[in-house]
Amino acid sequence: MPRLYPLDAGRDRPGRGPVGWGGFYNAGMSAHTLYAQRRARLAAQLGAGGIAIVPTAPERQRNRDSDYLYRHDSYFYYLTGFTEPNATLVITAEGESTLFCQPKDPEREIWDGIRLGPEAAPAALGVSRALSSAELAGHMPGFLENRLTVWYPFATHPGMESRVDGWLQSVRARVRYGACCPDQQRDLCTLLDEMRLVKDEHEQGIMRRAAAISARAHVRAMQRSASMLRAGQEVREYHLDAELLHEFRQHGSQYPAYGSIVAGGANACVLHYRADTALIRDGDMVLIDAGCELDGYASDITRSFPANGRFTGPQRALYELVLASQDAAVAATRAGARFVDPHEATVAVLAQGLLDLGLLDKHKVGLAQDVIANRSYFQFYMHRTGHWLGMDVHDCGSYVEPSQRGQVSERKDPLSGETIKDRPSRILQPGMVLTIEPGLYVRPAPGVPDHFHHIGIRIEDDAIVTATGCELITRGVPVAADEIEALMRG
Ligand code: GLY
Ligand code: MN
Ligand code: MN
Repeated sequence: MPRLYPLDAGRDRPGRGPVGWGGFYNAGMSAHTLYAQRRARLAAQLGAGGIAIVPTAPERQRNRDSDYLYRHDSYFYYLTGFTEPNATLVITAEGESTLFCQPKDPEREIWDGIRLGPEAAPAALGVSRALSSAELAGHMPGFLENRLTVWYPFATHPGMESRVDGWLQSVRARVRYGACCPDQQRDLCTLLDEMRLVKDEHEQGIMRRAAAISARAHVRAMQRSASMLRAGQEVREYHLDAELLHEFRQHGSQYPAYGSIVAGGANACVLHYRADTALIRDGDMVLIDAGCELDGYASDITRSFPANGRFTGPQRALYELVLASQDAAVAATRAGARFVDPHEATVAVLAQGLLDLGLLDKHKVGLAQDVIANRSYFQFYMHRTGHWLGMDVHDCGSYVEPSQRGQVSERKDPLSGETIKDRPSRILQPGMVLTIEPGLYVRPAPGVPDHFHHIGIRIEDDAIVTATGCELITRGVPVAADEIEALMRG
């Protein structure tokens, strides 16, 4: 059996009301220390006269008086550990932090759950002071007066720009009384994205646990698929989705980190397919791309497996090729390498393999180096090999190396003819977390051997970059074809 991380090790959640005030702090560090350190690091980057405004996410109506399940804003959570809605954090360059949060309201708390409230917030969260969110609009002009630069997240909170403009108008109305109005507005994401890109020990600990839960969920779904088919039962995609959800919730995950993909047979070739009702047949491959969110952090795993637990020859041949390309990508992932290196390592292996398996004809597309240069592999592999992973499944952080932004080269895309400006890819550092997820998706087309038609394979693991390589935190679910078969026999 694969090694499983102890799921609850280091988890030290305080008693909480039905609303998750106080957040999910753990790893032996108090909320004050962890989040206060982050606020202080941010404050130090705001520049003299700077002020930052960080709203959490709004509640969203689903229909009539039902809302979507609430999910806090990741930037806001990163700085507070606070999960209630209707809250805004204000930080000054001098390091003062003010939280606007929902006031205590015994009537509303009967319906929606306990609120932390402004009186308790400074002690619980370590902010300098807290006020009712009803007072935000009244206080903001005063906060902004005599400041030089106002920072807030651009293009992430609809209406935020005009709210800030409204507050600044109020400041300008007082210029004749001697008030100074900030003359710069800057995108707070540029600072927070860089901070979030490198995960600290606390974050890595949560991500390991999230990954371990998701790995167990994949194991459970694989085993269920084979056992249902062995018992002669009808297997539909939603049956396997149910297994994933069971395992996520069983171990305390709040919800899936994204819409789970459970794709039987040809559905695996639809990249954004969702778990639906399709019948999974004996002899089909199944692709599951699913990961839980735990305490604000995502995991993201894909496994492709034969529904009955036994690969056919063509399935195994394609599977082994994708796995070899993933091995190459893993070997290319280490501090000092570029973000693009794992992708290029993957493509090199896939290009040669597509020729070897007869999916591409060398008389038409040339050698592996031509397949790469002309992107002929794109017919079967049309996405990148990874993305940053963190609080958001496609996490924030620039894919360009900031110190080399100015080095631009131009090229023509061989397929679209578009001019593409390339900038040097990000240099990996210890603590960055990324996915490694090569795939092959074979749709019927002239010249494509029939026995590969409709097979879609992706293998995705989550990697923490280390000084010498990377730590794969999702290998609680195996990837070797023989190990998958052994697991599904059990
Ligand atoms: N599940 C989303 C992704 O793999 O990027
Ligand atoms: Mn992914
Ligand atoms: Mn995925």
